Amino acid sequence: MHVQKPSTGLEIRVLDNLSSATLLFDRELRLKYINSAGEMLLAMSARKILGEYVNQVILCTTTEIEGILNRSLQSGQPFTEREHHITLMDGRELTVDCTVSPIREEGQIIEFLMEILQVDRQLRITREELLLSRNQASRALVRSLAHEIKNPLGGLRGAAQLLERELLELELKEYTQIIIQEADRLQKLVDSMLGPNQLPKHEEVNIHQVLERVCNLVKAEVGVGLTILKDYDPSIPLMNGDFDQLIQAFLNILRNGARAAGKDGILGILTRILRQFTIGSKRHKLVILVELSDNGPGIPEDLQDRIFFPMVSGSSDGMGVGLSISQALINRHQGLIEFTSKPGNTVFRILLPLE
Ligand SMILES: Nc1ncnc2c1ncn2[C@@H]1O[C@H](COP(=O)(O)OP(=O)(O)O)[C@@H](O)[C@H]1O
Ligand SMILES: [Mg+2]
Repeated sequence: MHVQKPSTGLEIRVLDNLSSATLLFDRELRLKYINSAGEMLLAMSARKILGEYVNQVILCTTTEIEGILNRSLQSGQPFTEREHHITLMDGRELTVDCTVSPIREEGQIIEFLMEILQVDRQLRITREELLLSRNQASRALVRSLAHEIKNPLGGLRGAAQLLERELLELELKEYTQIIIQEADRLQKLVDSMLGPNQLPKHEEVNIHQVLERVCNLVKAEVGVGLTILKDYDPSIPLMNGDFDQLIQAFLNILRNGARAAGKDGILGILTRILRQFTIGSKRHKLVILVELSDNGPGIPEDLQDRIFFPMVSGSSDGMGVGLSISQALINRHQGLIEFTSKPGNTVFRILLPLE
């Protein structure tokens, strides 16, 4: 590769406008040049770090990056490390694809060009898209199944009522009552599988009002002993959405948390505003983040892949539709729910774009 030292204005302009972080090190692994994307990624200004040894630039521990540089030095070939975890000087951890190309002059390696591409975001977007499409697929399946059951159910119930009217013997009515009651029970089940079927209203919603309501409902259900810690960002503006549907969505999640955390459990509710945030593949200027956490035993490992699917429940008396409904409701608001869970700390993150 024949890359000259970035000396002319044109070269600097090109490099500075690249979106991948580009760093140039000399043979002693001292930083000779860093472009704007590099400064942004590392959150350090060129003035401060030019001339510094590589370990003052990227890593707390240098061995890995030095390893990449050395491999490239030994082989004389460009070298790419994929999904490499690096720690920045400020402690942030990033996942990056890192390519190091040795630059030669008269057969001698004189410099290294390092390109760093942050992949955390890409990985997250791919994962979210998968989650969204899986949710849509499973909901479509459940909906069509539920409709198949719902239609004949109405006929069944109606026929039983007609029959009941014709019956002269009172004892026989017991049987028609069983048919009617069971049809009603199935109807309820199917309705809950289908979830709320109205489109979300477009009203101005104060997210904290929603959360306060949910909080009070859960407190009333669980009673004393439960602690709910709140950390609200009061600067969050009103969002456009459906007040009741949002209550339902958050209630299903917090209720699970309260059940998991048990009698003396601690729940957390946190709100923040995120700027320039991507949900799925769509970029939003402002996104509301709500975190609902609990200190319960965590979501069983074997359920973690499936908890957003309907009919998946870890409890014997659960119907397993709560989270699938929450996810559907939040999706209708162009948002997304994700979670992390380990014993003692389960966190559901709800992302809602502010449009
Ligand atoms: N905060 C949580 N802690 C532990 N497990 C959870 C939590 N939230 C959900 N789960 C698990 O996910 C399952 C599915 O939840 P959900 O869809 O609400 O159905 P249900 O509550 O009717 O079981 C629960 O049964 C439980 O096993
Ligand atoms: Mg539930």
